This record gives sequence, structure tokens and C-alpha cells, in this order.
Amino acid sequence: MRIAVVHGPNLNLLGVREPEVYGTATLADIDAALAELAEEAGAVAEAFQSNSQGAILDYLANARDRIDGVLINPAGLGHTSVALLDGLLATGKPFVEVHLSNPASRERFRRHSFLAPAAVGVVAGFGVDSYLSGFRCLVNHLARCGEADSGDPPARR
Ligand code: DQA
Repeated sequence: MRIAVVHGPNLNLLGVREPEVYGTATLADIDAALAELAEEAGAVAEAFQSNSQGAILDYLANARDRIDGVLINPAGLGHTSVALLDGLLATGKPFVEVHLSNPASRERFRRHSFLAPAAVGVVAGFGVDSYLSGFRCLVNHLARCGEADSGDPPARR
């Protein structure tokens, strides 16, 4: 199972960017934690960050054939971009939206997400744990979909 982990604009600055809002973990810390979690889950986390929406759309279009799902922190683009929603839908793969902070508790303009209605789920407000929980939930979701696709009954514990 291969999961694209997409980080939107300004997340390259984590660690120094508004640490009181986003915490002190760097993007490298988050990617390392996800890589470890992925290995435990028998999955691969393929990380990508860009400050450019076009680069993110190109990445998604190129990755669509090799990935099973997308974990995305769209950053500010989630509040503004139909194009990003379209790019995610074009992958044909399930995605989970995550945020370090809880946008619903912040400025009004952060309360809307173009992505959330199409996401499998959204995890927000737990810092790095938002990513880790979102990743676990997406892996479990994909595993359940795989069981359903196989036509076999779910394995019993
Ligand atoms: C963010 C929340 C967004 O509102 C903001 O634009 C970001 C980061 C978060 O992870 O909390 O850049 O996505």
C-alpha cells in the first residue's frame, strides 16, 4: 500500500513558522514519523511538499497510477482552491485531509474547506498527531476497501 503524503504551501517552514499555532516539529520530523508508522503498517509514505499549487497538481497527476490514497495537509489551499479539489478527485483515490491546528477555532475564512466534503475524513487540531491519526485511518480504510473488493469475508481475529 502506497500513500502520497502531500504538504501544501508554507509547511516547509514548520518549526519556525508561528510555533505557538503549529508547534515546533519540522516537516522532516513529520515525514520521519510517518515513514516509521508506514513501515509498521506495511505501507509506504511518499512525501511531497510544494509552495506552488501547479507543482502539487502535477505531482498528483503523475502519482495517480502508483498510489492507493492521499494524506493531504492542503494548508491555505484547502480554503481557496477548487483546482486542488479537482486534482484530488482526478486521482480517483480516497484522500484524508489533515491540519496541525484546528481551523474551525480560528479566523472565519479558515472554517471553509473545498476538500472536506469529498474527503474520507478530516483530522485537525492535534499537531503531528493529526497526520499520524489521519495516516492510520486512511490505511485502515484502504484495507477495509481491499477486503470488500476481494469478495472474501473480513478475516476474523
Ligand atoms: C493548516 C491550517 C491552514 O488554515 C493554514 O493556512 C495552514 C496550516 C494547519 O495545518 O493547521 O497553512 O493547514
